[in-house]
Amino acid sequence: MNRRYRKTVIAGNWKMNMTASETKKFAEEMKKIMPRAKWCDTLICVPSCNIATAAKAFKDLRIAVGAENVYYEEKGAYTGEVSANMLKDLAVKYVICGHSERRQYFGETDQIVNKKVHAVLDAGMNPIICVGETLDQRETGITGDWIALQVKGALYGVSADKLRRCIIAYEPIWAIGTGKTATAEQAGEVCGNIRATIRSLYGARVARSVTIQYGGSMNPKNAAELLAQPDIDGGLIGGAALKPEQFVDIINAANQD
Ligand code: 13P
Repeated sequence: MNRRYRKTVIAGNWKMNMTASETKKFAEEMKKIMPRAKWCDTLICVPSCNIATAAKAFKDLRIAVGAENVYYEEKGAYTGEVSANMLKDLAVKYVICGHSERRQYFGETDQIVNKKVHAVLDAGMNPIICVGETLDQRETGITGDWIALQVKGALYGVSADKLRRCIIAYEPIWAIGTGKTATAEQAGEVCGNIRATIRSLYGARVARSVTIQYGGSMNPKNAAELLAQPDIDGGLIGGAALKPEQFVDIINAANQD
């Protein structure tokens, strides 16, 4: 973390978990243990059918509501899709773009991710742009090039001004939901490379203002060490964000002086 130049952001990604009733229950639990906001912003990205419930339930909790996906067209005959304006109207502040599960199971390319990033920015929300390599790519030594390409693809045509509203989440695919975490050094190195890519595109001043998260089995045990890396400014948390105590422990790790 480097709180002097950028925000620390702890974000949950519930994926396809939690019904609306479970969302209310989660909020009730959180009310008892949520720490005072200190250094970090907190949000949870929920399934789209739970956004309205979450917006209401999280209101007094200092937890912003995020969406897990968006479609980039404004409106029209796209059965089953949800537009950026629809999310914005429900008080959504953040939208995950290009999660590896969407790339893997739903065929999202860098080009599609880029369109989504623009749609989210144009609607006045903040995209959380996910990038990450497979184990194969890591083992063949192409992690750096691959991620630089994903970052450049996602940010194509994004102005420096709008980039300030973007969060980049580094999520090594081999560490997602596997219990395997990148070591703090591995994660810190890739996040440093992501900042270097942004620096090459936008200059040093802009690059140092961008929040870069780590995601991939972040938990109460490893959060402090990961967050101690200078280029890791928060976490995008799956499994541990479904459990109020664990999520709070991670928030506390980010709040430490
Ligand atoms: P886990 O924390 O369950 O590994 O999930 C990480 C993730 O994919 C967050 O977007």
